[in-house]
Amino acid sequence: MGLYSDRAGRIGSENAFKIGPHIRSLEETGRDVIRCNLGEPDFPVPGFIKEEVKRQIDLDNTHYCDPQGIPSLRAAIAKQFSETRGIRAEAERVVVFPGGKPPIGLCQQTYCGPGDEVVYPSPGFPIYESFIPYVGATPVPLHLKEENEFSLSGEELASVLTEKTKLIFLNFPSNPTGGVASPEQLREIASVIRSRCCEDVRIYSDEIYEHILFDSHRHHSILSCPGMERNTILVSGASKSFAWTGGRIGWALFPTREEAEVFKNLNINYFSCTAAYNQEGVRLGLESPEGPVAIKKMVEIFQMRRDLVVEGLNAIPGIRCLKPKGTFYVFPNVEEVCRNLGILEGCESLPKEIRQKTSPSTLLQMFLLFVHGVATMDRKSFGRIGSDPFHYLRLSIATGTEDLKKGLARIAAGASDREGFKRFFAAGEHFF
Ligand SMILES: Cc1ncc(COP(=O)(O)O)c(C=O)c1O
Repeated sequence: MGLYSDRAGRIGSENAFKIGPHIRSLEETGRDVIRCNLGEPDFPVPGFIKEEVKRQIDLDNTHYCDPQGIPSLRAAIAKQFSETRGIRAEAERVVVFPGGKPPIGLCQQTYCGPGDEVVYPSPGFPIYESFIPYVGATPVPLHLKEENEFSLSGEELASVLTEKTKLIFLNFPSNPTGGVASPEQLREIASVIRSRCCEDVRIYSDEIYEHILFDSHRHHSILSCPGMERNTILVSGASKSFAWTGGRIGWALFPTREEAEVFKNLNINYFSCTAAYNQEGVRLGLESPEGPVAIKKMVEIFQMRRDLVVEGLNAIPGIRCLKPKGTFYVFPNVEEVCRNLGILEGCESLPKEIRQKTSPSTLLQMFLLFVHGVATMDRKSFGRIGSDPFHYLRLSIATGTEDLKKGLARIAAGASDREGFKRFFAAGEHFF
């Protein structure tokens, strides 16, 4: 008998949380690091929300509350979903969680078991893939292509569906690519789902970046497509829209009240409830006209930074970067840089056990961090399975403009530093 269950060894992770100690260790030696790795807006929570949270604490609203989420917040979420998705959402079908992340694993635990297939975008948010082996299901990555602007066609989805498909993750606007889906694409995807999936299949539509859209793009949801209400779980949250990752408030609208009850019971088992004073803050954020104003200001800044960074990256020989339509990430193709610096051959020459833990973009990520002082994320951090042939980095633009300019200069220096990479590689440290 070992200490850990088999299951405990099968769960993956989110590397964005793991790079912090590397950055801190560099900073402790006096080096400064430009942080383009962060998945959170670098803005404060809007003032009117902060005031409401403080007021709620002063009212002693600090006790256990409804494990499904306080009724007033669930009503505000249902109203917002009804108005923006053209559906009739009831508060009884809404469940509030400690962030947008928990429902990912909880849905897998609830709907999937051994033999079931879980379809998810790759590159995509790593937690979709991370949980699948944990629940004993089979991962089916759906590789999004740069030539299709990292979007998804109905035909591509159809090619991976089988009678074992149980759960399908969709994420538009998407982390890490910033890709979005047009209403036509969503209608095509919905029509494939309607014709190929039985009624017990669930679509998990992660719309946590719904408000972070550029160039007057509007958000479109699969839930608005005819017939999709009966099997779609719509997920969003406050972490990105209100720059409030530490508030830990996310939510989901389930197809039926019965399913919402199941997730309410999981909340009771895992968390009891989420902080009522933060829920009141989010409720005000959704209800007040100040909410959209605060979001718009933040998005305008992200858009300026996106333009700066995409232009800067495309000016670096060996880097090719699409202009994302939403989120606060850019996802440049760095294959040529990996070739020019000798990373592709270097990676091939590594012993198998090390090669399995790294990749060319991981080596580039580590080289840029440890030698050039800029933190990015490698391709593998967004879905490992089948990622070997792809060489990308994710850069977050949720960092001040001056820092982004410095970061670009450092990436440009790194991209032509063949000798530097040789030394880094020869030192044999920090390969993953
Ligand atoms: C696509 C996606 N879904 C969910 C989450 C989790 O958000 P939260 O911090 O609210 O748990 C993130 C966070 O980066 C994300 O990018």
